[in-house]
Amino acid sequence: MEHGQASKTAMRVAMRRAAHQMIDRPLVLDDASAVKIVAPLLALGGHNYEIKRSKHAVSKAFRSYMVGRSRYSEDELARAVECGVRQYVVLGAGLDTFGCRNAHPDLQVYEVDFPATQQWKRDLLQRAGIAVPANLHFVPADFDSMDLPDALGAAGFDRNRPAFFSWLGVTMYLTLGGFRRIMAAIGSGPGGSAVSFDFLMPREALPACEQITLDGLAKRVAAAGEPLTLLLAEEEIARECRQAGFERWEFLDAAALNRRYFAGRTDGLGLVPGAARLATAWK
Ligand SMILES: C[S@@+](CC[C@H](N)C(=O)[O-])C[C@H]1O[C@@H](n2cnc3c(N)ncnc32)[C@H](O)[C@@H]1O
Repeated sequence: MEHGQASKTAMRVAMRRAAHQMIDRPLVLDDASAVKIVAPLLALGGHNYEIKRSKHAVSKAFRSYMVGRSRYSEDELARAVECGVRQYVVLGAGLDTFGCRNAHPDLQVYEVDFPATQQWKRDLLQRAGIAVPANLHFVPADFDSMDLPDALGAAGFDRNRPAFFSWLGVTMYLTLGGFRRIMAAIGSGPGGSAVSFDFLMPREALPACEQITLDGLAKRVAAAGEPLTLLLAEEEIARECRQAGFERWEFLDAAALNRRYFAGRTDGLGLVPGAARLATAWK
């Protein structure tokens, strides 16, 4: 990403979540603030590509993935809260609005992102009139160089209590060293801690048609200044989870997400098979 610039991929994801609220029924992700937060950008014009193209098959597939992964991590978070977790860390939060619509009264939310992206988000929240609750804490940092426990600790996070982490749309933009440091920091946390994240499988692990889709994605994100840097196969991620100290993990592909969140729809919304996988790793 260009130094000091807000994340363009974060904006694209946010536009897809907004399009979901405006167009799709029933909702997979119920997030009215997804529209509000991008309203100042839409008002400027030129940013409504996702909304204009929302009926196109490719647009539908990407939108399904974006809302499916957010819904999955929020469902996993809800399970963690039921088990007593009271800290939630959104790694690479972008324009994710969970922290502003958090329905868990005792849950402290920490958002970590590049300083420029986080400042841009805070400006958008203010311009959209979305209040920042007292239990939402902003932690500006770079995953490739930060000390996660120290940075979170400075914002009030208690490293002796379990926490749930989400890390969506981020691992593929990191160095392997940066990915390992964050996994090790979470994996060395207390029992009951967990992380939901997504990752991209390497090109050579995919059938030819999925390679073409991955190539297209790689071109688009590179053009946005955020090239794909880390692609790992399921067995490599399993090894990373084990080395980082996690006890169990699960992986979901497009078919698994479709069964869970898109079954029985008549509007064609759903994921197409591809390189992306969702994962949760538990301590
Ligand atoms: C594709 S966006 C996803 C945003 C959000 N998770 C969502 O689902 O809407 C990737 C996010 O990760 C952040 N990011 C990428 N690399 C990062 C790094 N090395 N340190 C901190 N944040 C990073 C970007 O600023 C951006 O907000």
